[in-house]
Amino acid sequence: MLEVARITGGRTLRGEVTAAGSKNACLPILAACLLTRETVTLRNVPDLSDVRYMAEILRHQGADVVVAEPGTWRIKAETVGHRTPYDLVRKMRASICLLGALVGRLRRCEIALPGGCVIGPRPIDLHLKGLARLGCDIRHDAGYLRVDAANARGAYVFLGGRMGSTVLGTANLVMAAVLTPGTTRIDSAACEPEVTDLCRMLAKMGARISGIGSPCLIVEGVESLRGCEHAVIGDRIEAGTYLVAGAITGGDVLVRGVEEQHLGAFLDKLEAAGVRVESSPAGLRARGGPSRPIEVTTQPFPGFPTDLQAQVLAMQLVVDGLTTVTERVYPARFMHVPELQRMGAEIDLEGATAIVKGGRPLSGAPVMASDLRASAALILAGLAARGETWVQRLYHLDRGYVAFERGLASLGADIVRLPNSALPTGLGEE
Ligand code: EPU
Repeated sequence: MLEVARITGGRTLRGEVTAAGSKNACLPILAACLLTRETVTLRNVPDLSDVRYMAEILRHQGADVVVAEPGTWRIKAETVGHRTPYDLVRKMRASICLLGALVGRLRRCEIALPGGCVIGPRPIDLHLKGLARLGCDIRHDAGYLRVDAANARGAYVFLGGRMGSTVLGTANLVMAAVLTPGTTRIDSAACEPEVTDLCRMLAKMGARISGIGSPCLIVEGVESLRGCEHAVIGDRIEAGTYLVAGAITGGDVLVRGVEEQHLGAFLDKLEAAGVRVESSPAGLRARGGPSRPIEVTTQPFPGFPTDLQAQVLAMQLVVDGLTTVTERVYPARFMHVPELQRMGAEIDLEGATAIVKGGRPLSGAPVMASDLRASAALILAGLAARGETWVQRLYHLDRGYVAFERGLASLGADIVRLPNSALPTGLGEE
């Protein structure tokens, strides 16, 4: 059933929320469960459609996936199939992280190539370059990648690309290398906390990885891996989105369950914008609204995350003056802009830079979510707008936020989830 969020703007958000487990840490971690025959117990698994979908894929590959209690999953992959069909891959691009896990476990795989993505081109050339450096034989055939790693050996891999490091490319190469004989050195590895979390879990399974958290990972291949227990890190992007929700309404929001150092560049920009930021053992707190324009440029970690670009852009709509937002990770990731313009936002797009002329009043409107983070940004703008905003295609939001509308409502937002049929006549999709 298609659903829509109705937000009535103007409420000031106050209170506390807890970040769920990180989606982007959890997806490759679930794939990594295929690297052992033994049981892996995962805690802090977020209840998200993308994560449930990954479970379906693991089951297709032959794993037993049991939700022991909410947030605690047990995965046992005694036998694993080597083929992942297009039907499974096309719905979620992140399923490409099976590539490294299957190569690691089976020394071969056959996986459908993921298709396009609304946030821009998402090539996997670096994933393949890494595997080829290890000596994998890679063939493209009828939309599938066939990888034969029978003769793979550890090797030196420079994994940087045009846009810098690659998150899932690094995850794939590490998962392949942990069970590949010899030493693999990965330079220009992604340093995102989600990659670090995967490496920490692999280390618990018996993998030998040094340099975890740095751009140089050294992996000594081992013969086999064992089961382990691992708690997924808190979702820094969800946490950042809640902090923006507080700030865009001039409120006071505390988010528990996430580490300050995972959000360094983001918190720095909130402060530069005039939001009062505090970090304490209780969590991260944002008080008051933004009062100054800022310049934001997205970059790989520890730079400003592309996954918080749309949200901060929305926040700066309430500030007088010119804010510039430049995308250096996904230069075309601005689908939220035309929808925000429908709410009265003044934004010029020049190449990969959005120039936000803040301070114009926002008015509620029916808008269309195009992807996960864009849908969050539209809801945030709705919190600050006059009147009602109807955000359609809520399934995008549900891929990465656990019951976001309930979290916001608990902070005082006027937001409800409704079936599409509740849309006033003429506003809905056919
Ligand atoms: N790139 C290449 N070649 C490659 C791989 C990537 O040129 O082989 C380029 C991409 O086109 C992009 C840049 O490198 O310009 C970074 O892409 P990256 O590979 O790091 O992205 P990803 O691993 O596919 C993950 C997250 C994204 C997040 C990016 C960047 C998951 C499941 N997805 O994608 O999350 O935006 O890293 O941090 O971890 C989201 O959660 O909304 C989301 C899109």
